[in-house]
Amino acid sequence: MRKFNLFVAVLFFTGLSSLQAQERIPQVEELLAKMTLEEKIGQLNLLTPGGGVATGAVVSQNVEAKIKAGQVGGLFGVASPEKMKVAQDFAVNDTRLKIPLLFGSDVIHGYKTTFPIPLGLAASWDMALMEKTARIAAIEATADGINWNFSPMVDIARDPRWGRIAEGAGEDPYLGSAIAQAMVKGYQGTDLTLANTMLATVKHIALYGASEGGRDYNSVDMSKVKMYNEYLPPYKAAVDAGVASIMTSFNDIDGVPASGNKWLLTDLLREQWGFDGFVVSDYTSVNEMIAHGLGDLQAVSALALNAGLDMDMVGEGFLTTLKKSLEEGKVTEDQITQACRRILEAKHKLGLFNDPYRYIDASRPAKDILNDEHRNVAREAAARSFVLLKNHNNILPLKKNLKIALVGPLSNNKNNMLGTWAPTGNPDLSVPILDGLKSVAPKATIKYAKGANISNDSELAKKVNVFGPRIEIDERSPEEMLKEALDLANDSDVVVAVVGEATEMSGEAASRTDLSIPESQKKLIRALVATGKPVALVLMSGRPLTIPEELALPVSILQVWHPGVEAGNAVADVLFGDYNPAGKLTATWPVNVGQIPIYYSMKNTGRPATTESFQKFQSNYLDAPNAPLLPFGYGLSYTQFEYSDLSIDKAGIGQGESVTITVSLKNTGNYDGEEVVQLYLRDVVRSITPPMRELKGFKKVFLKQGESKSVSITLAPDDLKFYNSQLDFVSEPGEFEVYIGTDSNATEKVSFILN
Ligand code: BGC
Repeated sequence: MRKFNLFVAVLFFTGLSSLQAQERIPQVEELLAKMTLEEKIGQLNLLTPGGGVATGAVVSQNVEAKIKAGQVGGLFGVASPEKMKVAQDFAVNDTRLKIPLLFGSDVIHGYKTTFPIPLGLAASWDMALMEKTARIAAIEATADGINWNFSPMVDIARDPRWGRIAEGAGEDPYLGSAIAQAMVKGYQGTDLTLANTMLATVKHIALYGASEGGRDYNSVDMSKVKMYNEYLPPYKAAVDAGVASIMTSFNDIDGVPASGNKWLLTDLLREQWGFDGFVVSDYTSVNEMIAHGLGDLQAVSALALNAGLDMDMVGEGFLTTLKKSLEEGKVTEDQITQACRRILEAKHKLGLFNDPYRYIDASRPAKDILNDEHRNVAREAAARSFVLLKNHNNILPLKKNLKIALVGPLSNNKNNMLGTWAPTGNPDLSVPILDGLKSVAPKATIKYAKGANISNDSELAKKVNVFGPRIEIDERSPEEMLKEALDLANDSDVVVAVVGEATEMSGEAASRTDLSIPESQKKLIRALVATGKPVALVLMSGRPLTIPEELALPVSILQVWHPGVEAGNAVADVLFGDYNPAGKLTATWPVNVGQIPIYYSMKNTGRPATTESFQKFQSNYLDAPNAPLLPFGYGLSYTQFEYSDLSIDKAGIGQGESVTITVSLKNTGNYDGEEVVQLYLRDVVRSITPPMRELKGFKKVFLKQGESKSVSITLAPDDLKFYNSQLDFVSEPGEFEVYIGTDSNATEKVSFILN
């Protein structure tokens, strides 16, 4: 006991916790011992020289001079080995301690080989694919000198008004956690010192997707029980997978913005989760705490450091005020040293102290970026992300010898294929739908007419066109454009209409209060249907849309998100049946905006709505159903699947035991295809109100036409657990119901007892 106390006392006086003491890296400690206060503070400063996307009002100034003065720990928004070399030379040759820079970037869904938007990729429910796309993104980005990625974005989003729902995996914590881990693995690989792996950043901790009203950057107020059970799991999963860094969110939590929130950044992240990487702010989010009402730059910077933030993105509050705060006793030198240590440790993980130029190899871009292999994966990934929402009269798949009228503002367009947050991609390299159709079906007769503008609203166009012409308003009148499209339609066997949102109608700072297809395009769709020709809608969007009208029309609808650089080829592969769509929605599609927030794992009320007819004093709307338009997990195939013989291996289990559920799946239709078998669990009685059901397992299964397979999913002990009122992670004895099926409305059911 005495010995232990002595050890604790030594740690205490040296300012170390036992955990940290075990992890010290001699090379980093030697360096720290040589560093002045100013040099340490310099490492906490992350700048962007303005080459990337400035997502705030501020762009860094005098970057070269600051690097040379030892005032910069990393840069982002710079790419290419040549540019990186210049910057790294400043750091390595012109500073006293020659500490190399980190080079960050937002590589959100592919680098130059742009994959579908993350919400689309998630709809593949294919973890191997998610990991592969992240791996390719890392190979390409590192070839351009980038060694730190600001991805994955894992914010749970249950409000499609929020434009950034496009950037994440959707509404579900179980699926979101699996995706978070697959992406971290893909970026970081097994060895971070390899020249084609990079640091991943899980973002934005925390709860960013729950901003009030779906308005970006807005306030969040949420109970701890909801946080722990529904919103925090994907961030924690990334930490468990060894993610190297974490980015804070813009919103406040319990009244304190994430970048200054000690409970979040220290109690939860460090103490409860054992995170040992570094925490970076979001773009000027430290400074933004001034606008949040927490004080001046010095006060908010001290607040952030005290909370546990290590690196300050763009705002330079750490750089300009921490020394003064130290002199005034508002922060300690140990805190500055600790933040600096974490950043140096990240540089060490990458092997930068042994070779600052490890990621700078001018021979790599030509062979590693946008090569055929990567483009093929982008094509496959896009096809796998598509969700067949409806197939009226089996219009799809199309024969390859038809006369096709290809209409709609997104059908011969490059500017909207990549989707939001693809700043490293080049829209000019993307394949328009028209080109894809022609190349996959050379014997078809394909004629194109725009038919309508994405929107006729020039004010909207101005807001959306910040990164390029996403909404282009034609010089011709809407009537003239419509007539051209209808003439084509009348002279065709089938109409394919590519409609939906422009790229920048979703994404950051792109919240909408009306989630319908813009009126200009609705008119086009109605008129096309009125021709009586078979119509297939190819729907693009970065979010769930409200499409009750279109869904009720006699049309087929293929949801393709924003498909990425191989857009046209992938859409053609699916329209012509070379690939049978198997994507499933990962966010609920509402009937209307008034239903939001809406998600499948809602709780029951004490007065559940009656299903048959409206009843007063039950939990209903007067003017809309409770049920969404399309449920979580929904998606059709060109073939059909039949579920039968659901069974469970045990009727009762004890704590710590697993249980396996088995179902027989048969492909009863006319095509080979894949099905995502989904398992939902309902904890019937527990100490806090349970959700009606929660996803706890899934398997993507390929079945040839006529083939049957038995599919088993095992529930592990942790799958039965939840955070109770004391925030303990427990499973409570009682009955559990298990539902298996094709979407979150699955009705096949078995149950078991946890003793
Ligand atoms: C976004 C982050 C992004 C950062 C740097 C911010 O506006 O919220 O997701 O990583 O900019 O580009």
